Amino acid sequence: MNQNRENWGSRLGVILAVAGSAVGLGNFLVFPGRVAANGGAAFLIPYFIAFVIIGIPLAWMEWSLGRRGGKVGHGTGPGILNTVVDHPVAKYLGSLGVIGPLLIFFFYIYIESWLLGFIWYAITGELSRAAIGADSMAGFLGDYLSGAKKIAQIPSHLLFFVITFFLNFLIIWFGVRRGIERSAKILMPLLLILGAILMIRVLTLPGIGEGLGFLWNPDFSRLGDVDVWFAATTQIFFTLSVGIGTILTYASYVKPKQDIALSSLTANATNELVEVIIGGTLVIPAAIALLGSVASADIAKAGVVDLGFITMPLIFSKMGEIVGYILQIFWFVLLFIGGLTSSVSILQPGISFLEDELRMDRKSSIAVLGAITMFFTLLVIWGFNAGAADEIDLWGFQFTLLLFGTIEAIVFSWVLGVPEGIKELLEGAEITIAKPFIFIMKYVTPTFLLGLLILWFTNGGGMDKILLKGVESVPVTLLGGVHTTNIAFIWGFRLSLLALFAALNLTIFTAWRNRTPAQLLEVEDEFN
Ligand code: PHE
Repeated sequence: MNQNRENWGSRLGVILAVAGSAVGLGNFLVFPGRVAANGGAAFLIPYFIAFVIIGIPLAWMEWSLGRRGGKVGHGTGPGILNTVVDHPVAKYLGSLGVIGPLLIFFFYIYIESWLLGFIWYAITGELSRAAIGADSMAGFLGDYLSGAKKIAQIPSHLLFFVITFFLNFLIIWFGVRRGIERSAKILMPLLLILGAILMIRVLTLPGIGEGLGFLWNPDFSRLGDVDVWFAATTQIFFTLSVGIGTILTYASYVKPKQDIALSSLTANATNELVEVIIGGTLVIPAAIALLGSVASADIAKAGVVDLGFITMPLIFSKMGEIVGYILQIFWFVLLFIGGLTSSVSILQPGISFLEDELRMDRKSSIAVLGAITMFFTLLVIWGFNAGAADEIDLWGFQFTLLLFGTIEAIVFSWVLGVPEGIKELLEGAEITIAKPFIFIMKYVTPTFLLGLLILWFTNGGGMDKILLKGVESVPVTLLGGVHTTNIAFIWGFRLSLLALFAALNLTIFTAWRNRTPAQLLEVEDEFN
């Protein structure tokens, strides 16, 4: 077993790290858009139901399975499922918990890097100059993404991508305690302060009542729509970072008898406060208050990208020269911090896998993971509008997330079994788990997820998306410009992802074949 596995330095540290993973672009950009599109305040009903029957239980399951795996030197899906499920196929199913975060990373890191770019242009004042109207702002974003904007001859979106990329690996380089934990301890309070300042400014705008009303007026008639429930569940998964393997890995660095039950709940509660209170105040209500209800139809239709990168600068330009200038910087710094503390959590499973299962040292793990993620992210950047963005959404955020989340719940509740699982969860716990939750974890969570998975394939259109039904190589409007979806690119992209997945599983195969019987026994001894 790897004796050098790290531990988190403190309980507050791990809570902040997990909260850092959870609080991200999902909270500030995706959430308000979903509320607006799915019935306003009525959306909170399916949202909180999903929080209670999926979010909280699944997070507890990941924390328990993760800490349990960490005790025997495993921090990712393959090793962890292998210790719980007595079947050789378990470790291959576990590979979803390594590939899933990677898929998300290939996309997330690029969007995160735009934020750094926008911080730069906010500081230089170029952003304020562009933010005189929606068209010029869209033009600015278009120029940035097409590479027309350059710094020292280099297309600036690539420059900021490379800087963001290195920043992520720098944090990972310092390790779980000195890198991730320490940065979360500094960045999370800063994020909360920036969020609070922006929120207070927005809440004191004239016309904010109308803005809040626009976002939050409940439309209960939407509750009959399956898509609304689907959107709520997806949001819960995404915002809490559960179901994909990140929490599993973070939890594997928790000390054996240290509380996880309350820590998990605290991190989740922090995320929900930030999401509903701050996320639900900033973008859309501010837009309605300052841009007027004429713009509201457009705002309701605007995607995540438009809201964050076009609408927000326009809003700040209406707040007065100096205040607008400063708050604009605050906004992009807030988002960038949110993104950074999330993206390192999406990287860590890859590192843990290489360190735990392939016995690589930190340096080699970073080199290998760096090469893989650099290659695939460049592929995503290159084919962003040709279909790469949608493919990542499909395979990362939908397919793998739902599938792996379901597998985790089944493994915890039905394979390991709820009594044993709860025993693990309660070891060192500072709270007890209420009876209804035990019932939910035993029956509701796995069944619900299984149902959802089936529904996604059928009614949810998952199968159609996989088969590219209705997708043609036609120009689509995205990011303010006209681009072309390219079927040949999509298949090429899928093939390269499949190659990565195959390589991962081959590695798992060889790693286990090379394990000595003594190493394999070690794991069994721990739990018997
Ligand atoms: N929770 C993050 C957000 O809200 C995104 C994320 C998803 C991070 C999955 C890690 C794993 O932006």
